[in-house]
Amino acid sequence: MKRGEMLYEGKAKRVFRTDSPGRFIVEFKDDATAFDGKKRGSIEEKGILNNRISAYFFALLARAGIPSHFIELISEREMFVEGVEIIPVEVVARNIVAGSLAKRTGLPEGTPLNQPVVEYYYKRDDLGDPMINCSHVVALGLASADELHRMRETALRINGILKEHLEAKGIVLVDFKVEFGRKDGQVLLADEISPDTCRFWDKQTGEKLDKDRFRRDLGGVAEAYAAIWQRLDGGG
Ligand code: TMP
Ligand code: ASP
Repeated sequence: MKRGEMLYEGKAKRVFRTDSPGRFIVEFKDDATAFDGKKRGSIEEKGILNNRISAYFFALLARAGIPSHFIELISEREMFVEGVEIIPVEVVARNIVAGSLAKRTGLPEGTPLNQPVVEYYYKRDDLGDPMINCSHVVALGLASADELHRMRETALRINGILKEHLEAKGIVLVDFKVEFGRKDGQVLLADEISPDTCRFWDKQTGEKLDKDRFRRDLGGVAEAYAAIWQRLDGGG
């Protein structure tokens, strides 16, 4: 397919129209931001790795019966996707206390949770993506009760599948964020699943292998993204 005009440029991705109606190209950039864009930088080859890693997870989930917008990889930094109407709710699932949950509860990072936690954030850059609850999601008309139910159940299924898959590769899935979109009455997984949107810890050493290395200035950021891809692809 042919790449057409750029429709949208976000913090980490760009979306282009194609000559195939209703289908788009997503290009992954090396740009990285954190804290609502207050911290800015670039992570070498992040776009290439996040494109590959997201495609890998979308394909894995498709095999488990979880549909997504992903169609195919078309270049190092580009994937071909179904156009969806993004539901403005970021769905976070957590297995272990970290990040904002550590702040909110006062529990130390690394505290295991008795069961997975699902949280919802209103996708509004101008408000700093505030946390909302499931009753807000429906009351504000962000998603129907049925869509909310499907997003919650799908996030929990994704958690189970990715947790087990990563565990076998020596990676602990601490938490992650997913987004969904509507297409022809279906709710499709969309956006990306990558070290930008997940917390991955090395099972043996506890070393952080995700965007927290950038957020917290820990160094070795590009190396961490490459290590995740190597573990997934190389089976190590
Ligand atoms: P948090 O602990 O900062 O709330 O993050 C929870 C998870 O969501 C973590 O895996 C990182 C991911 N995340 C995003 O993908 N985008 C964001 O803007 C934020 C704040 C977190
Ligand atoms: N991507 C978000 C931002 O730029 C935050 C994050 O991932 O920490 O603000």
